[in-house]
Amino acid sequence: MAVSGCVLFLFVVGHCIGNLQVFLGPEAINRYGAFLQGLKELLWPVRIIMLSLVVLHFWSASTLTLENQSARPVAYAEWNPSVASYASRTMFVGGLVVACFIVYHILHYTALVNVGGGDFANSAQFEYDYDGHKIHNIFKMLVVGFNIKWVSFFYIIAVGLLSLHISHGAQAMFQSLGLRSKAYTPAVRCFAAAIAVFLFVGYSSIPVAIMLGFGQEALK
Ligand code: HEM
Repeated sequence: MAVSGCVLFLFVVGHCIGNLQVFLGPEAINRYGAFLQGLKELLWPVRIIMLSLVVLHFWSASTLTLENQSARPVAYAEWNPSVASYASRTMFVGGLVVACFIVYHILHYTALVNVGGGDFANSAQFEYDYDGHKIHNIFKMLVVGFNIKWVSFFYIIAVGLLSLHISHGAQAMFQSLGLRSKAYTPAVRCFAAAIAVFLFVGYSSIPVAIMLGFGQEALK
């Protein structure tokens, strides 16, 4: 769990930083997308490795949850979860919702399936002229996608759950890797909380900004 979680965590942080280039304007984010798409030899191997890690992470989580349940087949007469945090108690359900979100998100922005409304069917509109050739207009795609309010709210809720998941997952990862002694506990907690806040603010700033009017000139 810790190793698969660690690699997925690095992807989520990198994807967030990459996405924030939207605030530098269409050229920056579209060039970044074209750069990633241009790594042709790496693209599919990386996708397959990431998908395998998601499956591995889910499989480990299911095994662990079942083991925990069979270790305590009879429920507590009185259950007062004051020690376990809300994040730690919602790891499995939260993880499942995030997994559903990822499927939706890939259909939405990678496969350009019209899952959220907006004019996604006409993919020719997502072409951007750069240096004499056409690249994918990720900027316009984000504006079209997040102009639909329920889609934006769905993304904000999903990244909220993801951040909650990571706030506990990051601490558990340090513990599993044997890097969490008593002396480091406050630092590990602080790091996990800071990264969760960064991810939530970073990811949700994009739909929020677009709902507030950012980037609308891309539709003209
Ligand atoms: C507001 C939040 C987010 C935005 C704006 C966003 C944006 C994007 C965009 C534009 C793409 C397509 C890139 C392309 O076709 O070139 C993409 C792909 C992807 N995103 Fe996100 N993303 C967000 C949140 C997330 C989160 C939270 C996760 C994971 C937990 C995630 C995982 C992925 C994955 C796995 C892909 C597919 C990459 C591939 O093509 O292989 N995204 N995202």
